[in-house]
Amino acid sequence: MRFWGMVVSAAFVLTLSASEAETAPKYVGVDGCKCHKSEIADWERSVHSKAVDLLQSGKKASKKKSAGLEPDKDYGNDARCLKCHTTGYEKDGGFANTSSTPKMTGVGCEMCHGPGSEYRAIHKEKTTKFTRAEAMAAGQLYGSLDPEVCNACHKHKDNPFRSDDFNVQEALKKNRAFHEYYPLEGKH
Ligand code: HEC
Ligand code: HEC
Ligand code: HEC
Repeated sequence: MRFWGMVVSAAFVLTLSASEAETAPKYVGVDGCKCHKSEIADWERSVHSKAVDLLQSGKKASKKKSAGLEPDKDYGNDARCLKCHTTGYEKDGGFANTSSTPKMTGVGCEMCHGPGSEYRAIHKEKTTKFTRAEAMAAGQLYGSLDPEVCNACHKHKDNPFRSDDFNVQEALKKNRAFHEYYPLEGKH
């Protein structure tokens, strides 16, 4: 009896994890968000879209030096840096390297809004009629509700330039970093 009980529960666990793997959201890249033209135009001008450039040798040399980094080193292939300066580093659909995934460089939409494959399908299907709750259940993140969305990079211990002064509500007002807020129709 006991033996069969264990076999059944092991099979159940396996089935669960297989279906979870299928529905786990994947990164789709900025092109996958192109209905949002205004946000894309703002983002292209923002510091987040160009964040990967900071890893090149010579960029921000004196700041790198004061942070204990080597100013002339190319950090463009350094896993320690790429996880915060690209989109979905080493995750499904995310940044792998500049030649195979050139569009996943920089801090893309999905680093603040979550990997898009699942909630994007809901946006497309329901246009203005989806609820915030169902988008969140599909992995969509809302930085204004959860400071961890921004702090995960800005206050992370591995960020050589982290500052205790970083405040999410203040940072959201800086439009060179953040796109304007274009209210959508419907209740999101
Ligand atoms: C945990 C996330 C994280 C990691 C890891 C990380 N960075 Fe950054 N980096 C940031 C954030 C966020 C900023 C913006 C400054 C701030 O508010 O912290 C930044 C800013 C910078 C800047 C600009 C600094 C300035 O004052 O203008 C450079 C250069 C930089 N990072 C290089 C690197 C290098 C090189 C590595 C790897 C050795 C690295 N970063 C690793 C998140 C990270
Ligand atoms: C630095 C983080 C960040 C990046 C990068 C970013 N956003 Fe946002 N976005 C936000 C925050 C914060 C809000 C306010 C609502 C919230 O809390 O998510 C927002 C709001 C939105 C909204 C309105 C959502 C609503 O329910 O009213 C849309 C649409 C949007 N962003 C699209 C985009 C697109 C498309 C991109 C990429 C081109 C992008 N965002 C990149 C942080 C970001
Ligand atoms: C994936 C990591 C990541 C996430 C998530 C992230 N940022 Fe950043 N942010 C960066 C990096 C890297 C830079 C440095 C870009 C530069 O200086 O050119 C930066 C720069 C900035 C700057 C300009 C520098 C400064 O400190 O004044 C602001 C403001 C900012 N981010 C706000 C936000 C806000 C608000 C959120 C959340 C809605 C957010 N960021 C989410 C990585 C991130």
